[in-house]
Amino acid sequence: MGVSAAWLARLLEVFHGCAARVVVDNSDTSAGCRPGDSALSDIVAVDVRYRLLPVGMTDESDHGDKRSLSLILKLLPREPVARRFVTEAEFDVREISFYTRVVPDLQRFQRRALAAGAEPLPLPLPQCYAARFPDQAGSLLVLENLRRRGYEAVNLSHGLERSQAEAALRAIAAVHALSLSFKLKENRPLSARYPFLFRTARARDSHHQLVERGLPALDTFLRLRPGTERIVAALNALQSSAKDIIGDLLAPIEPIALLTHTDFWSNNLLFRGDQCVILDWQMATYSRPTTDVALLFVTSLPTPLRRSHTEALLDVYWNALESGTRRLGVDVRVDANFTRADLHHHFRWSQLLALLLCVGSIDVALSEKATAERLVDVLTDLEADGLLAEPPADVRARPSPESSSDESAAAGPADGSPATSPAPSTPPTPGSP
Ligand SMILES: Nc1ncnc2c1ncn2[C@@H]1O[C@H](COP(=O)(O)OP(=O)(O)OP(=O)(O)O)[C@@H](O)[C@H]1O
Ligand SMILES: [Mg+2]
Repeated sequence: MGVSAAWLARLLEVFHGCAARVVVDNSDTSAGCRPGDSALSDIVAVDVRYRLLPVGMTDESDHGDKRSLSLILKLLPREPVARRFVTEAEFDVREISFYTRVVPDLQRFQRRALAAGAEPLPLPLPQCYAARFPDQAGSLLVLENLRRRGYEAVNLSHGLERSQAEAALRAIAAVHALSLSFKLKENRPLSARYPFLFRTARARDSHHQLVERGLPALDTFLRLRPGTERIVAALNALQSSAKDIIGDLLAPIEPIALLTHTDFWSNNLLFRGDQCVILDWQMATYSRPTTDVALLFVTSLPTPLRRSHTEALLDVYWNALESGTRRLGVDVRVDANFTRADLHHHFRWSQLLALLLCVGSIDVALSEKATAERLVDVLTDLEADGLLAEPPADVRARPSPESSSDESAAAGPADGSPATSPAPSTPPTPGSP
C-alpha cells in the first residue's frame, strides 16, 4: 500500500490539533507484521519524518519543528472473504470504538478515582494516533509501532516463558481492574455504556459456527492418537450442548463482570523485558475475568509451566487485580463479591470455554507439532479434572436476548472524516511515543 505525503500530512495535522502545518520530509512504508500474523486486517508500518510549521510560514525549505513517528496502520483486509467477515461482524468498529471511547473514558476515570499519591495503572496498549470509522474507503486505525520501541512477539510454538506469562497476566489485570472499578463506581454495566462491545449471544453464535467446523477436524486428529479415547468420547458428548456452554460461560456474571479482551493469546501480545502490551481489541466483550486468564493458559503456556505453576500464576493475576482496584478505591472481595477461591473455581470452567474457542481455530493449533501436542496435553488435563463436561449452574449465566436494534447500535458513531482524532485524555507526545 502506498501512503501519500499529502495524506500523511493531513493525518498528522489532525493529530496535532491543526495548530500547525505539517510538511512531510520523508516516509517509508513496509509490512507491519510477518505474513500470516494478521488474518482480520492488513497491517502496514509507516515511518515518517516531518516538520511542524507555524501557520502562515511559507518558507518550507528547512524551517519548523522536526519530528518523527513510527506508525502502524490497521486497515480492512483486501482479501474479499476476510473483508466481508470483518465488516459484517464489525470487528473494526469494535476495535476503533475501544481505542476512541473506552480508553479515554478509563484514563479520565483513573485520574478522578486514584487515591492520593497512588501510582496510576499503566494501560498496556499502543498509543492510538487516529482512527476512521468505516466509510467508502474502509476503516482505519493508526497506532504507534511498538516494534520500533523494542517490543517483540513470541513464537507460538515455544509458548510463553514464566516471566512473560506473569507480565501478560499483570497487563490484562490492569485493564480488568480499571474497567471493573469504572463500572462499580459509576454503577452502570459496561454493556449499556458501550453497545459496540461483542454481545455474548452474538459472540456465542459466531464462535459456535467455528466450533462446529473445528470439532470434526479435532476428532479425526485425536482418533489417530492412541490413548485419547476418553477425550474423544467426552467431546462427542459435549457437541450438542456446545453452543449453550459457550454462551453460558462467556456471559457476564455480576458483579464481577468487566471488559475482556477475549482473544487473549500470545499472537496478540508484544514483550519488552518484563513489559507486555496487548494488541488486537477486535473481540472486546463484557464478560468475566477468567475468560481472558483461561484463554492465555489454554493457548499460550508450555505444558510444564501450566501444569506446575497454575496456582502461582493465578496468584500473580489476583494480586494485580486486587492491588489495581484498591488504588481506585474498590475492594474486589466486598464490592465485586469475588474472592481468590472464586477466581480458582471460575478459572477451572473458563478453561472449557477457552478450549472450545481454540477448537474454533483448530487449524492454528494443529498447524505445528508443538502446538498440537500442547492441545492434547490441555485436553488430557481437562478430561482428567472432569472439565470436559456440563458446567455446574453456579458458573453458568444466560446471555441476555438481544434484539437486532441492539446490534445496529453496535455500529457506533459512523464518522466520515478522513482521520478523526481519538481525543485521548493525555495529549500524545509525537516523536517519543
Ligand atoms: N501497534 C503495533 N505495534 C507493532 N506491531 C503491531 C502493532 N499492531 C499490530 N502489530 C503486528 O501486527 C500483527 C497483527 O495485528 P492484529 O492482531 O492487531 O491484527 P489482526 O488482523 O486483527 O490479527 P488476527 O489475525 O489476530 O485477527 C500483530 O501480531 C503484530 O505483529
Ligand atoms: Mg491478532
